[in-house]
Amino acid sequence: MRPRIGIIGAGVMGQAHGKAVHFCLKNGLIDGEFVGLAEPDPERRDSYARAAGVPFVTGDPHALIAHPEINTVYVCTPTVYHRELALEVLAAGKALFCEKPLAFDAADARIMRDAAKAAGITHQVGLVLRFSPVVTVTRDLLRDPAMGTPMTAVMVDDQYFPIQGHYRSTWRGDVRLVGAGTLLEHAIHDIDVLVSYFGRVRRLHGVTRHFFEKEGVEDLSSATLEFASGVVVSHTSIWHNLLHRGSSRRMLVVCKDGQLSWQDDDWHAPIRVDQNGAAAEYAIPSHDVVERYIESAGVADERLREIVRAPYAGQDYLLEDYTFLKAVSDDRPSYPDFDVAVYAHEVVDAIYRSAREGAVIELE
Ligand SMILES: NC(=O)c1ccc[n+]([C@@H]2O[C@H](COP(=O)([O-])OP(=O)(O)OC[C@H]3O[C@@H](n4cnc5c(N)ncnc54)[C@H](O)[C@@H]3O)[C@@H](O)[C@H]2O)c1
Repeated sequence: MRPRIGIIGAGVMGQAHGKAVHFCLKNGLIDGEFVGLAEPDPERRDSYARAAGVPFVTGDPHALIAHPEINTVYVCTPTVYHRELALEVLAAGKALFCEKPLAFDAADARIMRDAAKAAGITHQVGLVLRFSPVVTVTRDLLRDPAMGTPMTAVMVDDQYFPIQGHYRSTWRGDVRLVGAGTLLEHAIHDIDVLVSYFGRVRRLHGVTRHFFEKEGVEDLSSATLEFASGVVVSHTSIWHNLLHRGSSRRMLVVCKDGQLSWQDDDWHAPIRVDQNGAAAEYAIPSHDVVERYIESAGVADERLREIVRAPYAGQDYLLEDYTFLKAVSDDRPSYPDFDVAVYAHEVVDAIYRSAREGAVIELE
């Protein structure tokens, strides 16, 4: 179907998706319309509506979902509202993009997944690292038999506590709105990446801390994950106070015959490779990482290729939205779907449970 789009929430993500949607439509990558915006904050609503020029503007998300001209909805609100709004979109038979995390826990995420499946509606979750060149190319390299069997990985993400600085989030310090802290709100992306590299998790142990003393909102999560494949991963997620540091990630993967590492740029960092048979450790430079990604992900449209090659300016969201809207246009399922998100939620829940109980948790 021809997407006629409405966005709920005019904050950081509502703006990122709005710009990406606008780009796709303006450049003829997608044949559709940007019809509506719902945002309760009047100032935010007015300035977004002026910039985007959308015809239907409301403070009420239910009115947007019910709007007869809108058949495709983005949910970009604080997490606490995702479940209710997503279920309403699905009940209305409209295509749905929902930001991550889908919900506060896997039980609610499963309800959303089941509703989406039952409705047979195109849906996608905002696990945007699936569109990162460095993440994708690392995955491709890992699958090269010359690297040998993957043995272990260390992944660390860090950002400053996002209630300050350019995020100035009004809700991430309040457990009633955010559900938990850095693991659920930020690092669910990493958990999904690790699952995409190494498969299902067999057993894990997690620890969380609250250095900033925000009740229920952990600022440190550290976990050891044992995958069914035998790989053992150390994962740490941190909200600190280093306001000059951009939000990013570091990764090291060690296989029997080689190792890969990158740091502080989760879009197109150079990847360092040390491998049996190579004369010395070498780096795959950023522009090669991007070219490899373009081939691997099958980015066919030349305009998209050019955008992906430009210095980073939010292209991951563009690729994400193009993927979703193309699937809507073609009336087919999209990816990553809610099923992918549910498994990441199950692992996140198990880490929290382990931290609460001080116990090793066995997963199915
Ligand atoms: N995929 C990513 O990379 C990524 C990055 C940041 C945030 N997120 C997720 O996106 C979601 C939004 O985060 P954000 O950073 O944009 O937050 P934000 O605070 O910048 O924006 C949220 C907006 O939603 C509005 N809002 C609140 N309640 C609403 C309601 N009931 N109906 C409509 N609008 C409502 C707020 O007024 C605000 O403008 C969160 O779930 C967050 O976890 C994803």
